[in-house]
Parts: sequence; C-alpha cells; structure tokens
Amino acid sequence: MTKINGEDMKEIVRNGYNLGKYAKYFGRNDKLNNFEKKYFDILVEKLPKNSNILDLGCGTGLPYDLYLADKGHKITGIDLAENHVLTAQKNVKTGTFITGDYTKHKFDNGSFDAVVALYSLFHIPREEHQAVIAMIYDYLRAADALLLITTGVEDTGETEIDYDFCGNVKMAWSGYGADKYIELLESNGFEILKSDNEADFGGGDEQLWILARKI
Ligand SMILES: C[S@@+](CC[C@H](N)C(=O)[O-])C[C@H]1O[C@@H](n2cnc3c(N)ncnc32)[C@H](O)[C@@H]1O
Repeated sequence: MTKINGEDMKEIVRNGYNLGKYAKYFGRNDKLNNFEKKYFDILVEKLPKNSNILDLGCGTGLPYDLYLADKGHKITGIDLAENHVLTAQKNVKTGTFITGDYTKHKFDNGSFDAVVALYSLFHIPREEHQAVIAMIYDYLRAADALLLITTGVEDTGETEIDYDFCGNVKMAWSGYGADKYIELLESNGFEILKSDNEADFGGGDEQLWILARKI
C-alpha cells in the first residue's frame, strides 16, 4: 500500500472519482475520437464474435464499453469508484460492472478474449505495474488474445499528487516512462501490435496507447 502523508493512494483515487466530476469534465460521451477509433477498429476486427472483454478501471463505461457492447461483445467492468460503477451499469445495460480494486479482485484465468485498461494504470502504485501486466496475461484466454492499455510517456515517479484534477479534485498518479512499459509487456509474454503517443488527450501529460497480443 502506497501511503502519502499517511493516506492510502487508492483511497485518494477512489474518493476523487466518487465526486463524479470526471465524465463531465473530460466530455466523456458515446463517441470515439479519431485517435481512439484507429485502435478500436483494429481491436474489433481481430476479436471473435461475442467476445468476453474485461475493462480494468472502466469509469462510466463511455465511450469504450458502450462501443464494444454495441458490437455484440460481453463487457465485464471493474472500478474502484462506486459512483462510476453505478453510472456504467446505466450506460451499458448488457455489461456486468463490479466495484473493487482490480489489483485485488480475482477473475478466472483464461476467461477473456481481450482486456482494456484505459487511463487507469497510472492511478496504481508503479511497483504494482509488473504484477498487473502478468495478471492480465493470465486472464487472457489464449495466444492472440488482446490487450489495449494506456500508460504514461514520462516517468512521473513513485507518486505525484495533484489538487486541481477536474478543476479542484485531489488525485494521485504513479508511473514509469514509455520504454519501461514496452519492456514490461514484452518480458511478460506480449507482442506489441501498435503503439502511439496521444499528445492531446485533454488530461495534461502525454499518454502512450498500446495494442498488444498474448504470444
Ligand atoms: C481516468 S479514469 C478512466 C476511466 C475510463 N477507463 C475512461 O477512459 O473513461 C480512471 C478510472 O480508473 C479507476 N481506477 C483507478 N484505480 C483503480 C483500481 N485499482 N481498481 C479499479 N479501478 C481503478 C478510477 O476509479 C477511474 O474510474
């Protein structure tokens, strides 16, 4: 557990998102932008029909889970913030949404055709990131199963605290630089299919989008 002046990092994250400002502040709606669409088009083309997809840090389910559910896939989403889980369930009626810490909740190994983890890994203490990637590898059904994940580009250190997230929300971040994530994925059994920096995601620092397949 990463403590910041006596506070648990994950509690800061959970409390911050439970204020319910994220989706409105970042304009989360049911549309993918052109950058996102390039990744989701490849993902959808490669997925078997009626795939089981796990979304780690699903937020409100918009736009990603709704997009995938509309293509006929079965979504399981997990999020720390109860508020986001309740909203995701309303937004994506066919999905199953669970409140919990995805580093602790255990899903069955080999039960997903794809895992997505978009803008959530950076809220987990970075010493846990290798274990998260290994966990995702185990959750994926077989070779060729897919992972779509975003990571930071710059090393943000063990923990960074902001007080002006979504205007005035306290939030915690933790992350390595891009090269480290490529190395962690490759050394944990993934092949990178596509990766790009997303310069303008509206949240401050650049993000790295990575689509990878289980070898
Ligand atoms: C920046 S939001 C992104 C939400 C969604 N993926 C999207 O792109 O709209 C980060 C989300 O990850 C969730 N999250 C952060 N750490 C988590 C953890 N350890 N377990 C589950 N959810 C987590 C937060 O509660 C929040 O909803």
